[in-house]
Amino acid sequence: MIVESKPPIEGDAVTVLVVDDERSNVESIERIFVREGMRVLTAFEAKSALEMVRTHRIHVVVSDVSMPGTSGLDLLKAIKQVSPAVEVVLMTAFGTVESAVQAMRDGAYDFVEKPLKRVNIVKSVRQAAERQRLVQENQSLKNELKRLSNREIVGASPALRRVIDVASQAAPSAATVLVLGESGTGKELIARTIHDRSGRKGAFIAVNCAAIPETILESELFGHERGAFTGAVARKDGRFARAQGGTLFLDEIGELTPQVQVKLLRVLQEGEYEPLGGRVVRTDARIVAATNRDLEAEVGAGRFREDLFYRLNVIAITAPPLRARREDIALLVDHFLGLYCAKNRKPRMSPSQSALDRLLDYAFPGNVRELENVIERAVVLSRGEVLTEVDLPESIVRASQTMPVEFSFAVGTPLDEIEQRVIKETLRYAKGDKSLAAQLLGISTRTIYRKLDGHSADES
Ligand SMILES: Nc1ncnc2c1ncn2[C@@H]1O[C@H](COP(=O)(O)OP(=O)(O)OP(=O)(O)O)[C@@H](O)[C@H]1O
Ligand SMILES: [Mg+2]
Repeated sequence: MIVESKPPIEGDAVTVLVVDDERSNVESIERIFVREGMRVLTAFEAKSALEMVRTHRIHVVVSDVSMPGTSGLDLLKAIKQVSPAVEVVLMTAFGTVESAVQAMRDGAYDFVEKPLKRVNIVKSVRQAAERQRLVQENQSLKNELKRLSNREIVGASPALRRVIDVASQAAPSAATVLVLGESGTGKELIARTIHDRSGRKGAFIAVNCAAIPETILESELFGHERGAFTGAVARKDGRFARAQGGTLFLDEIGELTPQVQVKLLRVLQEGEYEPLGGRVVRTDARIVAATNRDLEAEVGAGRFREDLFYRLNVIAITAPPLRARREDIALLVDHFLGLYCAKNRKPRMSPSQSALDRLLDYAFPGNVRELENVIERAVVLSRGEVLTEVDLPESIVRASQTMPVEFSFAVGTPLDEIEQRVIKETLRYAKGDKSLAAQLLGISTRTIYRKLDGHSADES
């Protein structure tokens, strides 16, 4: 028989299941724990106790050893099979050393002797509950980390599927891959995916070329010998060395100095480089490069070597902006809600239809990273299990409400006129931010200025 004693105490209260065939015993133990602020469930034999362990969230089971039918020791073993995280404290009147030892071996947390002393049993159960909590916490952190570290590419749009297809096909080869795309579109994620699917045993080493000062970039990448330059007090391996047998991800490749560009070209052509002050080293690191710049324009402007560009551009993958694949938004919202609810230990949230509509209408100039930040913020700030418009940044709600619905033009409308209207509406939508408008339109900011300039007379 299962008796639920007091009404359940909400929240983080410890739940204890007391199992004993002697009712008076169960009742007195129950009183002890209720007074401790714990939630108490009771059972009078092993079978129903096990059933409760299966169906309720129980932290600690306190069970008598000698009961008719299934003994406390067998109950312990069964509990450890169905729910290994549940801690078990056993009580016995004839506490022989052997059964205590066996019980501990089978996974009991503790053993207390009857007649029970209140302080002893309370202390033992409190400690068991604490251990249970720590183990549980540890486990969920581990799961979380695992989830975070094997990040998958979420999305079902044809544009994204094409990207994933090309990345998967390129992965096992040694070919250099150039990943292009606006900020926050998932370039690094694509690079990691290529590495994960390459079958390479070595590490994935990421270098943000823009974040490393120009003066030390060369030694960071290629390493140096002791005394190679002032301050080089010891020999140091570079990132190329660490990426041996693996993948070197060169992020923001457009930021490389001319000197490093030459060295990188040599790596791509000959598979070798020279550490500063050192001898030639051969490398088999696979190179994946990324940039949100227009590399061809950089070549045109003489800032990036043309020969290097062609060497890097063997397989080019362009991560599409989020606004060009709206069908992925709902999937990404769901994905990030799952991730950040778990991370913040909150119940799994889902979006209301109107919140989702607002997100679907928004242009996401910062792409997936912006969406991810929006969801993380909403999870942290919201109270309920539904993500509503209120949880979204004001700017998104406002922007999406002022989003121009669509244009209609008569056949034969001069292109120039169409262009002007589209540019002006986009500018209004971007609240006058010309670089955002340019990004939305897929043109350079300079072009916006130029196009508006020719029509400055009718600027509103
Ligand atoms: N398709 C996707 N599915 C799941 N997460 C994604 C996806 N695309 C991007 N992300 C996440 O969005 C964030 C930004 O992605 P990432 O860092 O790869 O972008 P990026 O293109 O390298 O940006 P930047 O140019 O600013 O460096 C990361 O947290 C990444 O995991
Ligand atoms: Mg990046």
